[in-house]
Amino acid sequence: MPSLARVYLETYGCQMNIADSQTVTAILRRAGYTTTNNASEADIILLNTCAIREHAEERVLGRLSDLARLKHAHPNRKLGLLGCMAQHNRAALMNKAPWLDVVAGPDSYRRLPELLANADFDPAVDVRLDRTETYADVSPEHDNGVRAYVTVMRGCDKFCAFCVVPYVRGRERSIPAADILREVQQLAARGVKEIVLLGQTVNAYHDEQVGFGELLKMVAAVGGIERIRFTSPHPSDMTPDVVEAMAREPKVQPYLHLPLQSGSDRILTAMGRGYTTDEYLRLVERLRSAIPDLALSTDIIVGFHGEDEQDFAATLGLIRTVGYDSAFMFKYSLREHTRAFRLGDTVSEVEKSRRLAEVISMQEAISLERNRNWVGRDVMVLVEGRARRGEGMMAGKTPQFKTALVPAAPTIKLGDIVPAQVVSATGHSLVCTLP
Ligand code: 5AD
Ligand code: SF4
Repeated sequence: MPSLARVYLETYGCQMNIADSQTVTAILRRAGYTTTNNASEADIILLNTCAIREHAEERVLGRLSDLARLKHAHPNRKLGLLGCMAQHNRAALMNKAPWLDVVAGPDSYRRLPELLANADFDPAVDVRLDRTETYADVSPEHDNGVRAYVTVMRGCDKFCAFCVVPYVRGRERSIPAADILREVQQLAARGVKEIVLLGQTVNAYHDEQVGFGELLKMVAAVGGIERIRFTSPHPSDMTPDVVEAMAREPKVQPYLHLPLQSGSDRILTAMGRGYTTDEYLRLVERLRSAIPDLALSTDIIVGFHGEDEQDFAATLGLIRTVGYDSAFMFKYSLREHTRAFRLGDTVSEVEKSRRLAEVISMQEAISLERNRNWVGRDVMVLVEGRARRGEGMMAGKTPQFKTALVPAAPTIKLGDIVPAQVVSATGHSLVCTLP
């Protein structure tokens, strides 16, 4: 094993993948590898990939062929593909990228050092899913930010008809609460102010007697941690204990990502989401009455199998009714292995694009309207860094997870929570002054 081999790791997809890359880095460092931010000086190049939509896979395939050139320049250099794409369609992948040395799925990272060592002649492939792997004993290499992501559960048991996650990330399993608390305490000791608990269906968390509501309270009891968030919850698992923890525990922030997917009951049933629009709206009502100034965001899919004009209109209607602060909106992408795969597409690409443009433009107007409601109000901003735009401004987040810009001042440090007043708003941020 080259003890000082340098690894370059690039991450695609969701926050779970970002967190997984931190676990991969920890495993490789423990095995004697070092890391580099520069692909052209790396001995090993790894991509941690996403399979949620075809577009995500295409991006990675494009990047892989660029990287193949770097590999050909130095034939000893190894190229590996990790994560959901590795798991999703290994055979097709090896056809499209035969120069890959290592292919490892989300439950195989512990064996990565071994796989890299064995990849000298033939590619080393490990895509076994493991019902028990949680990496609970691996302390991930977190970055030095004010916010840290902590994985509390892996996998998903919901099997929504459109979604590949249960097939590529495997079945649901929770990390023992004691391991989570230990990690949060270490992060607090390093000065982290905000913890984001992660899981594919994070509020399905359960470790013996500890459910997700209880876990929120346990994390909130850790001194030094000022703010707690979590993503992504499933509406069906928003049990009273979770709502209560959000309402009662001041550290749990008033922001919730609550994926709706569709506003049509017919489509929700076909998707197998496990709730009706009526149940979803009642949940929103319960949340809003328990948690003042709650911000909501969501995920929407347009053009699922069988979605007609009426279904789409129902989605627009529901988005309007709820009034989300923001939304992630996607065209339906047919995924192999999923239940809906064999049903095929019924909505043309052109029509999906039209629906997507329409829902995006409606949501932009709603986001602007929701943000404008904050003008004139006082907010507490957790300062995270320099603003990307705006000279002399710093950027941070309000409790509602809205980006806030505040004037830089010598007294303000990263990680401070400062009072500010909102003076203007766009659909994406709040511009503030200091008192
Ligand atoms: N096509 C389009 N969007 C999808 N999502 C999941 N699977 C698909 C798919 N096949 C979206 C859902 C989910 C988000 C993470 O990605 O909206 O909530
Ligand atoms: Fe996919 Fe549904 Fe599981 Fe979310 S809950 S990861 S959409 S199967």
